[in-house]
Amino acid sequence: MSNDAQTNPAEAPLTFDNERARARFLDDLRAVVGDEHLLVSSDLRASYETDWTRRWTGSSIAVARPANTQEVSAVLATCQRHHIACVAQGGRTGLVGGSVPSGNQLVLTVERLNDIGAVDFDSGELTVGAGTTLGALQRALSQHGWEFGVDLASRDSATIGGMIATNAGGAHVVQHGQMREQVVALEVVLADGTVMGGASDVAKDNAGYDLSALMVGSEGTLGVITSARLRLVPHYRHRVLSLVGVDTLTTGLELLGHVRRSTHAVAAAEFFDHAAMQLVEQYLAMTRPVRPSPWYVLIECASDTDPTEAMAAGLTGTPGVDDDAVAVALDSPGRQILWSFRESITEAIAQIGVAHKLDVGVAPRLLDQFAHEVRTAVHSSFAHSSVLLFGHLAEGNVHVNVINVPPTDATVDDLVLRLVGSMGGTIAAEHGVGRAKRDWLHLARSPAELHVMRALKSALDPENLLNPDVLFA
Ligand code: MLT
Ligand code: ZN
Repeated sequence: MSNDAQTNPAEAPLTFDNERARARFLDDLRAVVGDEHLLVSSDLRASYETDWTRRWTGSSIAVARPANTQEVSAVLATCQRHHIACVAQGGRTGLVGGSVPSGNQLVLTVERLNDIGAVDFDSGELTVGAGTTLGALQRALSQHGWEFGVDLASRDSATIGGMIATNAGGAHVVQHGQMREQVVALEVVLADGTVMGGASDVAKDNAGYDLSALMVGSEGTLGVITSARLRLVPHYRHRVLSLVGVDTLTTGLELLGHVRRSTHAVAAAEFFDHAAMQLVEQYLAMTRPVRPSPWYVLIECASDTDPTEAMAAGLTGTPGVDDDAVAVALDSPGRQILWSFRESITEAIAQIGVAHKLDVGVAPRLLDQFAHEVRTAVHSSFAHSSVLLFGHLAEGNVHVNVINVPPTDATVDDLVLRLVGSMGGTIAAEHGVGRAKRDWLHLARSPAELHVMRALKSALDPENLLNPDVLFA
């Protein structure tokens, strides 16, 4: 599927031609991180060579676990000296094969860069190491009256560095934006080991290009993020969540519109189909608290004044939404139960097979049309497949999960991504491009955009040593 527009921006990195060169490389790395933090044997490397989906797997020369920015810098300088490519890893919760090594490459995990700085109460900012998990950050903030604006079901493994490198979104984008909106400044190590930037606490900085923003969503291809200055959001005293069964996503969007007009406090707007609901009911051994419907919509409101009445006013204004279609949770345990129907979908799918996970986006008004067309197209080519649709309603972000199609058969990926392209949508709304979508990047980016992306890659990583197998075909 390659064409001229999709070739790599630089020559492939040199690889080992003999064992002695490999041994010298490993000795140099040992001198940087210490024997204990250079994992060479296959059993120690194994968990770093397969991603969460199990669809993407590879092998590496070794896994380096640097302790700080200086060691990351020395590891990358060593890679450059030996002309060995390096794949940076966070919590390995990515879903597009973006941090899986392929052969003669080093894995650099940032898991030891997990310092959490003090909260700056005045600015509502703090600095964390790239290997800090989202869960650890949330726990550290819980006593301080601040929260982090992005939340994900994989919070206990996903790292802040990985979330920035993939511009993660999650459930609260509608209120607080993606990772891009949470980043104040970054410290990044470039391909040759140069340390760039710093997690500065200067609140406003408009001196030329926003180099931190450039790193957000760069998937480890332009530099390795080592620490981040993050913007926090207030902890809201009131939170209310509704699960509503609807016949169409258009009705779900109307409902969301009504709620948005009655309150500015909408914090999440999610959807999932009946197949996903049935699967999760089995997985959790729980029964949904609303009548069966083709679709389910979760709307959460959060603010300092109680949004319950405004939420109720919004819900009652939508035709077709009657009482047995609605469940409302006001307290934390109740909200956790309702959220579990949505947040457990990914895990429930992983229990029944290796899915083709196609994270795409269309204009919200096209959601019903897309849902109909994608199901029809996949089923007509793969009669035994199952299609589950869920995602983020306000952004038109659909996670198309197809099971019972062999993981290596990319025909289904091609079919879904071309359909999205034909509807003017994006092939990568939230999870990034990784290896999974690199052959289809041209469906979402113009030749001019691809040219600039390649020029940036060549300028910052001329030897193509940083995560060379992702993004570009
Ligand atoms: C979600 O929204 O649940 C995540 O992006 C995970 C997924 O798509 O499986
Ligand atoms: Zn998602």
